[in-house]
Amino acid sequence: MNVADSEVVVSILTDQGYCHTGDIKEAELILINTCSIRENAEQRIRGRLKAIGHLKKGNDKLVIGLIGCMAERLKEKILEEENLVDMVVGPDAYRQLPSLINEAESGHKAVNVLLSREETYADIPPVRLDKNGVTSFVSIMRGCNNMCAYCVVPYVRGAERSRNPESILNEVKDLLNKGYREVTLLGQNVDSFRWEENNHLTDFPLLLEKVALISPSLRVRFSTSHPKDISDDLLKTMARHNNICKHLHLPVQSGSSRILKLMNREYSSEWYTDRIKAVRSIIPGCSVSTDIIAGFCTEREEDHQATLALMEWAGFDFAYMFRYSERPGTKAARKYKDDVPDEIKTKRLNEIIALQNKLSSRSKKQDVGRIFEVLIEDFSKRSQDHLSGRTSQNKVAVFPGEGHKKGDYVNVLVERCTSATLIGKMV
Ligand code: 5AD
Ligand code: SF4
Repeated sequence: MNVADSEVVVSILTDQGYCHTGDIKEAELILINTCSIRENAEQRIRGRLKAIGHLKKGNDKLVIGLIGCMAERLKEKILEEENLVDMVVGPDAYRQLPSLINEAESGHKAVNVLLSREETYADIPPVRLDKNGVTSFVSIMRGCNNMCAYCVVPYVRGAERSRNPESILNEVKDLLNKGYREVTLLGQNVDSFRWEENNHLTDFPLLLEKVALISPSLRVRFSTSHPKDISDDLLKTMARHNNICKHLHLPVQSGSSRILKLMNREYSSEWYTDRIKAVRSIIPGCSVSTDIIAGFCTEREEDHQATLALMEWAGFDFAYMFRYSERPGTKAARKYKDDVPDEIKTKRLNEIIALQNKLSSRSKKQDVGRIFEVLIEDFSKRSQDHLSGRTSQNKVAVFPGEGHKKGDYVNVLVERCTSATLIGKMV
């Protein structure tokens, strides 16, 4: 999401005559796009600020701005804590950047952290910063109306709003014309996408279908779905279109219904397993990845065991796994005690990671001997003779190149695998 936002920011500034540089020493303006989801994300930003502090010496024209979620969360306070920062700009205020930069350049600290109910930056064509020219993000909505007890997102990104579908379809068509072959539709909770116009409702399954129909040679992915909202209608839409990738990111967070209730996730572990069964029956061969939080408030050993059991049952192909990190102002911070000791959080997280490593490896071994369509994204990191791409199921495959190039689709027979990669040959 921050990559997509940075592309909007670069577009706004390009219109003002700025150009983007990959060399920080050359920059007259440095904007750090920030994340607040866990405490260590914010610590990294503070570390980054320290690391670039020396650039201000000998260049008093240099303006440093903190933008995004951490700017929104800490507001003016960050100016007291980090005196390198000249500008603090929240995620809904990027259109004001030109005037805020002027203010900062004239020596005043500039702040705009107003959240909006409407802003989607729909009319701003992002300047693509991704390098491969094959895959791209397309933001379809902003904000979140769910109130997961642990999560800071609704506070820093504001209320949910969907982007005009026509502007989404135009952006995707433009990407296709520029040679892109895969788009990932992005939103905090894509299932809540809604756009009503002339008594006609576009919901997420319909939007997804419209994007898929743009061209059979354009792959479509999306993230993130919420288990409470994911419908059979969406799964059937995925199954109907070959170019909608057969991969679902469905964050479970915990396998314990008691913990899920405390987290305010609005589903039980039974509901989640029912949804996975629906995925398996409607889209055979679909891969599923997830997010898991270890050590949420009051989590007992039996809750943790329920998480491990659910992981094993679901056989996740991939997972992002985190230690619970208390975020100021959230319901969990206000109402519950962060009472799982650090060493227990770490121990549980390590057990979760060890199990997922086993599951991820099993998921890849099952692919050995099978043929997959792969979209080539680049050369392999190890060798220019090998190409790298992903299967529809979102697994990385590496194979000898033989005259093919980025953006081509090829069929690859998987001959072996490592823990992270499928290795094979074109057939
Ligand atoms: N602590 C740990 N992990 C968190 N996530 C969100 N908030 C927190 C938190 N306070 C995780 C969730 C979410 C992912 C994007 O980040 O698993 O799905
Ligand atoms: Fe956070 Fe929950 Fe919204 Fe995801 S759905 S962004 S976890 S509040």
